[in-house]
Amino acid sequence: MNAPDPTYLTDAFGRRHTYLRISLTERCNLRCTYCMPAEGVELKPKSHILSFEEILRLSSLLVGQGVTKIRLTGGEPLIRKELVHLVERLRSLDGLRELTITTNGLLLPRKLEELRRAGITGFNISLDTLRKDRFEEITRRPGLDTVLEAIHRTVDAGYDPVKINCVVIRGFNEDELVDFVAMTRDLPIEMRFIEYMPFDGNTWNTGKFLPYVEMVDRIREVWPDFRSEGGDELEIAKLWQVQGFTGKVGFITSMSDHFCAGCNRIRITADGQLKVCLFGAQEVNLRDLMRDGTSDEALLEAVRSALARKAPSHAGMETIAASENRPMILIGG
Ligand code: 5AD
Ligand code: SF4
Repeated sequence: MNAPDPTYLTDAFGRRHTYLRISLTERCNLRCTYCMPAEGVELKPKSHILSFEEILRLSSLLVGQGVTKIRLTGGEPLIRKELVHLVERLRSLDGLRELTITTNGLLLPRKLEELRRAGITGFNISLDTLRKDRFEEITRRPGLDTVLEAIHRTVDAGYDPVKINCVVIRGFNEDELVDFVAMTRDLPIEMRFIEYMPFDGNTWNTGKFLPYVEMVDRIREVWPDFRSEGGDELEIAKLWQVQGFTGKVGFITSMSDHFCAGCNRIRITADGQLKVCLFGAQEVNLRDLMRDGTSDEALLEAVRSALARKAPSHAGMETIAASENRPMILIGG
């Protein structure tokens, strides 16, 4: 390809898309209630899922046009076979500065070292509760001790910060916010509290939604000197810290104070659909385009035209809740 053409990845509102999230699989070894329906999701035949060659082709094209960060998601990305080879090859893309993974941590103690060597620059580990009974209630599987081990090992391997994703659900884990914040006292982690988002089949309702401002209030009851450090533009999180603590707290306020104006993300689902917005129904089938022999230029043109139609912001919590939206496991956290 020729030199980067910034217009390919810039939308009608001037947002440059430099952050690509790729889902590697629709499968998961947990069943988190906020992520998928109780009955599970219908798995597509393997042939519908992008091959590593296809993922590499798209990644290389998009990095060539200005993408500097790739996050691998799922489902659970660590269950994808030969993941380490994909990581090694992505890592060698010229222009890519960050290559990160979002994982539930279950397989991480076993795979951390090879992933680190292959070039993963950061880990987000999901953890919604520190209590065993609740862990099994929300994920519908055992595994809390393994996830805690994964977090400690990742810290010991030198990742700083290790990001921990916690979806906050009123009436479920709201009473644990302060326990999670206590973990930032000595650990170099960024404890990220994520507002619960509505997706198909995830039993979301307004009663379970706990907005950011309330989370802050609860933490301040225990630590009055819990303070905002301002935003982290690219990372989306609003960063806070208890004075003197090692780690930080991030809030992901997708619902109560969305950050659409600064959105720099595009997503590719495991079955090869380009999604320019997490909450938009619009999808472009990059997989079929590639399998039909489409040229690199025409693929980029398809991305450009999807971005040209990207909305300035999502439609708001109530509208999203009322409309159809793939379950998160089929989009990619
Ligand atoms: N609301 C908010 N975050 C969600 N995730 C999945 N489903 C939801 C939801 N309904 C995010 C969590 C999880 C990651 C894999 O995806 O951060 O850790
Ligand atoms: Fe699996 Fe993550 Fe979804 Fe939980 S949130 S079911 S760990 S993909």
